[in-house]
Amino acid sequence: MSQIVLLGAEGQVGKELQQALALVGHLTALSRRDLDLSDQDQIQNYLAAAHPTVIVNAAAYTAVDRAEQEPDLADQVNAIAPALLAQAAQSLGAALVHLSTDYVFDGENSSPYLESDSTRPLSVYGQSKLQGEENIRQLCDRHLIIRTAWVYGAYGKGNFVKTMLRLGAERTELRVVADQVGTPTWARDLAQAIADLIPKLDAGLLGTYHYTNSGVASWYDLAIAIFTEAKRLGYPLQVERVVPITTADYPLPAQRPAYSVLNTHKITARLGSPPPHWQQSLNQMLQDLYQLTYAHESPDSLRR
Ligand SMILES: NC(=O)c1ccc[n+]([C@@H]2O[C@H](COP(=O)([O-])OP(=O)(O)OC[C@H]3O[C@@H](n4cnc5c(N)ncnc54)[C@H](OP(=O)(O)O)[C@@H]3O)[C@@H](O)[C@H]2O)c1
Repeated sequence: MSQIVLLGAEGQVGKELQQALALVGHLTALSRRDLDLSDQDQIQNYLAAAHPTVIVNAAAYTAVDRAEQEPDLADQVNAIAPALLAQAAQSLGAALVHLSTDYVFDGENSSPYLESDSTRPLSVYGQSKLQGEENIRQLCDRHLIIRTAWVYGAYGKGNFVKTMLRLGAERTELRVVADQVGTPTWARDLAQAIADLIPKLDAGLLGTYHYTNSGVASWYDLAIAIFTEAKRLGYPLQVERVVPITTADYPLPAQRPAYSVLNTHKITARLGSPPPHWQQSLNQMLQDLYQLTYAHESPDSLRR
């Protein structure tokens, strides 16, 4: 049985990985409190003592806009720490499973990005994640790098779906960017895919893969899908109108790729079936979140 150490266990993907990985190995789940990835000695000492056979890194500096002001911190967590994990994995003979991002691409493609396509990050965050990937490829033979995109889930500090539900409960009109497209991806599906791949590491499954849900959407499409399903489920919403806007109408410090659809054929061949469609997974997540949030309340208290 694999001895798995999970880093970033309290993040939105990490929380889902805690459940999914517990079924495929002996799991030690670590949050930042347990192991800070900006502390080189802590990383090395901990891993040498724990002697895992698989290290799963779901920890990252994910504040995309703040990274423009904090490039050193983004670099420390997203590029230097993965290098240290890679060195530790290599010396222990362990496998390193690491998450990366669609933001390594510039978004100028017009068909889904292949794993082998050229990278050109547009942001400090994207650059730091790309450097992390490159460090791992250089330092650890047994690596699995999974690039994903547009992740949301019930847990963690926040994401687009939770933000829309919050704003939709407060306002009657929302403006949402319609000229960036990608694939919304449920953290639970991603975590399950990783758990399904771990037993295959010993059979030589290594390298770089793309995993997102299936299908394509703009942020505007996603907002409409969220409100349609959330209204059907009975979420307390005020929103009546969602107005499509352009990226230029909503400037942010970090530039995002306009087109960030990832081709998932390579991982589909390894998993045996394609990832679920984003709309199906979104509906499931909204149902779960509704249960988590409102199950104890009566329908009347929600309408007030
Ligand atoms: N979210 C997306 O849309 C998206 C898209 C593409 C790729 N990804 C990638 O997917 C992975 C998981 O992302 P996520 O969405 O689950 O992000 P998340 O919710 O922000 O989780 C990241 C976790 O990393 C932890 N962390 C940050 N700095 C750390 C440090 N110095 N030491 C230890 N832990 C630290 C955070 O802890 P604190 O809570 O204490 O800060 C947090 O629990 C990341 O590699 C990310 O780059 C995410």
